[in-house]
Amino acid sequence: MPDIKKIKLPRHVAIIMDGNGRWAKKRHKPRIFGHEKGAMHARDFVEFFSSYDIPYLTLYAFSTENWNRPKAEVEGIIKLLSEHLDEAIKIAHAKNIRIKHLGRMDRLSPGIQKKASQAINLTKDNTGLTVSIAFNYGGRSEIVDAVQSIVRKKIDAAKIDEDLFSKYLYTSGIPDPDLFIRTGDEMRLSNFLIWQAAYAELYFTPVLWPDFDREELEKALIAYSKRHRRFGGLRTV
Ligand code: IPE
Ligand code: IPE
Ligand code: MG
Repeated sequence: MPDIKKIKLPRHVAIIMDGNGRWAKKRHKPRIFGHEKGAMHARDFVEFFSSYDIPYLTLYAFSTENWNRPKAEVEGIIKLLSEHLDEAIKIAHAKNIRIKHLGRMDRLSPGIQKKASQAINLTKDNTGLTVSIAFNYGGRSEIVDAVQSIVRKKIDAAKIDEDLFSKYLYTSGIPDPDLFIRTGDEMRLSNFLIWQAAYAELYFTPVLWPDFDREELEKALIAYSKRHRRFGGLRTV
């Protein structure tokens, strides 16, 4: 395997953490057991990810469509979020990590909303890895929210270009992802960062999220380093 320190690394990695349910099913356990394992794994993952020289990580944790799952599963996932939040914030802050949230806060409980804003505030001046958690996130609702803000501000139509529009997305100030990873053997974006993914390199793996360890991450980074990105031109950049 090439030396990870010598390859061209992405600046921003975005991950669709899929496969928790199947991970549990393989072990004859309820789906929520997989979500528990997935949440613990996300914490460990952020810790080892911060040792690479990659400044931005975005994790897809819960989509706007995931509300359509059975009530017990949704409640279980929200409970896990709330239980893990305090500890995760402490670890993140100690490691100089800046936390951001992508998505709508509206359907989350006031308690979780408060904790999330405290985490964002507490870590906002940290200078290490930026970790954005996409929770209650939908790519289409992100675009709709941006359009609403622009209209509310009565911005002149002639002034709206791609740069301005990007500033109204949840990801304002964060560069577009260079590498998209989806675990869990599905090959689709499932409404994740659909605007920002325009020129992302896509990497799909059958490995289920709780098993996506350092070695699997390095495989993805090495695959990325071999891609030829042209952005519509003829030269690799
Ligand atoms: C991803 O795992 C976590 C969430 C979508 C919340 P899944 O729950 O989708 O797991 P599978 O795809 O059913 O295995
Ligand atoms: C995408 O996974 C959402 C997250 C990982 C949070 P899903 O399991 O919800 O996606 P689909 O339904 O297979 O497209
Ligand atoms: Mg899934």
